Amino acid sequence: MRILGIESSCDETGVALVETAASGASSSRPATLPRLLAHALHSQIEMHQAYGGVVPELASRDHIRRVLPLTTQVLQEAACSLQDVDVVAYTRGPGLAGALLVGSGVACALAAALGKPVLGVHHLEGHLLSPFLSADPPQFPFVALLVSGGHTQLMRVDGVGLYALLGETIDDAAGEAFDKSAKLMGIPYPGGPGLAKLAEQGDPAAYKLPRPLLHSGNFDFSFAGLKTAVLTQSHKLGPAVQQEGSRIRADLAASTQAAIVEVLLKKSMAALKHTGLTRLVVAGGVGANRALRAGLNAACAKAGVRVHYPELHLCTDNGAMIAMAAAMRLDAGRQQAERRYSFDVKPRWPLDSVNY
Ligand code: KG4
Ligand code: ZN
Repeated sequence: MRILGIESSCDETGVALVETAASGASSSRPATLPRLLAHALHSQIEMHQAYGGVVPELASRDHIRRVLPLTTQVLQEAACSLQDVDVVAYTRGPGLAGALLVGSGVACALAAALGKPVLGVHHLEGHLLSPFLSADPPQFPFVALLVSGGHTQLMRVDGVGLYALLGETIDDAAGEAFDKSAKLMGIPYPGGPGLAKLAEQGDPAAYKLPRPLLHSGNFDFSFAGLKTAVLTQSHKLGPAVQQEGSRIRADLAASTQAAIVEVLLKKSMAALKHTGLTRLVVAGGVGANRALRAGLNAACAKAGVRVHYPELHLCTDNGAMIAMAAAMRLDAGRQQAERRYSFDVKPRWPLDSVNY
């Protein structure tokens, strides 16, 4: 079966085609993993950079411009035609309502014209299952650390569609903490990758920044206070914080990254200990962070835990993870694709509510 996946929840238009082998799997044990045939991506980062953040209306309009050419590109690369598509999957939520409506509208229109069924996918389930596209795919059960621009969650994952929330951020997400701190340092949107690059030249112990909720005894996170601490520190340090090439700027970036990474790392290890599980899956844009990966690799090796990541280029939003999640849900018998073209979207949608 071939599944076309369309991602349009925020500022990336992603399209991909995956192929599933014959089914016979269960929710906890996929038989043969679906195979990625082709994927294509357009990032709107440059367009939003001028505004310092995502402008929802511009995002929606750009998805409209990109989605069909990307679909044509993917089908060409996979040497397939639209008639070869058996199911059209799309990101149903969470995300920007207008942006989601573009993907769901196009998916439903394509599927209706072809007489094929559609399947709406949870964006975070896409991230969560994206490591199954890597050369070293995980096995269930595992603890998942989901760290994106909008979410920071620790989940216990027992199979496809079997997700139990262990803890999550009570305010800002980890990606947001990176992006907002970066903005204060004059690093262009989205600041996470830029701040991480700058941090490589700085001293992570230069400035003492808070590690919020580190000892809270649960698996919740809070990053809003850290952002305020970075702001206060920036005021103290003056204009050097914004100066390219300044030591102070690199040190502040390194100290900020160290604070975020330490909290993510310690809470992930605590969740592993609490659940008794010996596998960790890291997913979402912040999962591309090298300091986080190095810290987790070292801690997991010490604790006898196997850690899995998506391929670097599939850490941030993409269509492959949406097609993959749809394929795995269908394979596991968790959901059926339907000829119901209502293109309803869910801008707010908790991940553990997809356990059906
Ligand atoms: O998963 P994602 O592409 O989008 C959402 O679903 O939100 O995550 C984007 C987030 C942004 O906050 C971005 O700054 C952050 O991931 N990010 C990083 C890195 N690469 C992306 N943060 C820290 N270090 C990185 N290398
Ligand atoms: Zn995402």
